[in-house]
Amino acid sequence: MEVRRILPSEIAESAHLYVGGDPETARTEFLRLSHEHKWNPMCQVVARDGALRGILLYFPLADGSWLCDQPRLGAKADPALLAALLTGVRDAARGAGVGLVRYHAEGGAGDLETPLKRADWSCPASLVRLHRTASIPLPPSPPSLLSWEERPPARPGDLIEIVRATQEGSSDVPELEPRSYTTLDFFLPHSPRGDARWAVAIRASVPIGCLLVNLHHDDPHAEIRYMGIVPSARGRGLGLHLVRRAVEIAREAGVPEVRLAVDRRNVAALKTYQAAGFREYGGFDLWIARQ
Ligand SMILES: CC(C)(COP(=O)(O)OP(=O)(O)OC[C@H]1O[C@@H](n2cnc3c(N)ncnc32)[C@H](O)[C@@H]1OP(=O)(O)O)[C@@H](O)C(=O)NCCC(=O)NCCS
Repeated sequence: MEVRRILPSEIAESAHLYVGGDPETARTEFLRLSHEHKWNPMCQVVARDGALRGILLYFPLADGSWLCDQPRLGAKADPALLAALLTGVRDAARGAGVGLVRYHAEGGAGDLETPLKRADWSCPASLVRLHRTASIPLPPSPPSLLSWEERPPARPGDLIEIVRATQEGSSDVPELEPRSYTTLDFFLPHSPRGDARWAVAIRASVPIGCLLVNLHHDDPHAEIRYMGIVPSARGRGLGLHLVRRAVEIAREAGVPEVRLAVDRRNVAALKTYQAAGFREYGGFDLWIARQ
């Protein structure tokens, strides 16, 4: 068995493993996906007896980590091949000086759980996906409680302090310390995840909370990527005001839906979202490999 980076000459064969169907359609679809998601393509393949047996695509996030797609095999699930791919990508990450590789197992890892464990990945957190329609506003907040400042994401210096302060004691995947929230990925004005809109909540001239909403235009929706209240202002339900602002941003942008993913252990955030009318529509286990 051999695990390695894909060769340019293997695109067609890999495409077939990845997409299925007839080879020419698969190749076109694979290249279209690569282009759309700005994959290079970055890809590990596993070969046995001179033939490609499996493929694992991954792409770098701006915070320096890699995010893996689901490994795919041509034939039925073979734990040894899957584990080899998952070991291959972590070895590649180590070679590239990348400290963290992630895999989001939608609906749970299923048959991948054994290969992930065999390849020494761990699953620190399970996240729930929540959504609500944007068209129904939340009841208005009491007047003059908070004011808002929109912050340009191109000036992260304005935001890092308030983001750090609101992250303190968060139960949102604390295993991912140091948090990626303070890195570049979070502050990109037009990240692959959509247009970033930052809002800072001010009370008595002091910033006490912040909110990051990404607007996605291809599958139109707003995504709450982050919200937080400084510890000294928690416990009074001010998080609901952040969520209200997020829904307003979505409505102003004309997108129909607001979505987010949150750690199932983050009870304060879950209760806040539930109170704002969000409902569960899925979830994923976060698997990570660290160097
Ligand atoms: C999420 C967050 C913004 C909510 O702040 P808040 O509005 O002050 O929330 P509260 O402390 O008022 O808690 C909201 C609800 O959760 C409950 N709650 C809070 N912590 C709890 C805990 N550990 N166990 C059980 N219930 C808890 C509160 O009692 C309250 O319930 P109620 O509405 O029935 O009274 C805040 O906790 C925060 O900034 N956390 C750190 C950053 C973070 O994790 N952000 C979310 C990730 S995107």
